[in-house]
Amino acid sequence: MAIVKRSIKGMTKLSTKHLLGIKYLTPTDINLIFKTADNFKEVINRPIKKVPSLRDTTIANLFFENSTRTRISFELAQKRLSADVINFSASSSSVKKGETLIDTVNNILAMKVDMIVMRHPNPGAAVFLSKHIDASILNAGDGAHEHPTQALLDAYSIREKLGNVKGKNILIAGDILHSRVALSNIFCLQKLGANVMVSGPPTLLPMHIDKLGVKVETDLRKALEWCDVANMLRIQLERQDVRYIPSLREYSMLYGLNKDLLDSLKKKIIVMHPGPINRGVEITSDVADSKQSIILEQVENGVAIRMAVLYLLAGRNED
Ligand code: CP
Repeated sequence: MAIVKRSIKGMTKLSTKHLLGIKYLTPTDINLIFKTADNFKEVINRPIKKVPSLRDTTIANLFFENSTRTRISFELAQKRLSADVINFSASSSSVKKGETLIDTVNNILAMKVDMIVMRHPNPGAAVFLSKHIDASILNAGDGAHEHPTQALLDAYSIREKLGNVKGKNILIAGDILHSRVALSNIFCLQKLGANVMVSGPPTLLPMHIDKLGVKVETDLRKALEWCDVANMLRIQLERQDVRYIPSLREYSMLYGLNKDLLDSLKKKIIVMHPGPINRGVEITSDVADSKQSIILEQVENGVAIRMAVLYLLAGRNED
């Protein structure tokens, strides 16, 4: 794979060939990704937003599950790095005819593809694939397991807003049970030295979640009074096989963040959401669109973070 090195200062190597989950990254890896993203954030704010860093590198985006932000953000990051991009959607592919995941990916790789970005509904799909193929795999979300680039862009956005993640009180609120964003955020924030709390209805908090070293609080007001940043997660109805809450109306009354609640807190907290938002359920529109919300900054930072990860993993493939 030909990587055209440009004047991106201070970049060295990640400890891993794949991005399968935050669990597999070291704090040094995360800080390297952030420093690299700082450089790329500067690049994407230039009038000419493109660098030739991944010229002659071909990347396949394999999405076996719906996505707006992650898919567009990865594709944009790849194009900003001058990579060649192939987009694969399971709904219109031969997966529908019974082809296995490994066969599908090996056929794509036979066409001289260098890296794979994959979203898959099954937890562990990216780890499984990494054991069977040679190319670098970037996990773009695997079931309720991990969503590493989301956690990286979330922590990067907190760092950008507060100067540092270490020592900050970060609340992750909502449907923790079905959320890959929650697990990746817990791993990432803890590796960076933050204090993490989870909050939500007892039915949507995994049993023994405290064993991960997080605080647990079912009273949203108390949780919000504790935190510097609240990351409000979506209720993931598509992953709920039984009813975990009586109704969305009751959920929004007890566990949703509205402007009255936000304004009544003793300090001004930062509000985050990974998207897609269910306006009026976990967060009201006036909160989502308020000055305390950094939801669109998260999306902007996602491109720089994904450019950084792609660039650093491509560099490992040069070895
Ligand atoms: N945050 C996130 O993963 O959004 P998409 O499902 O739209 O990619």
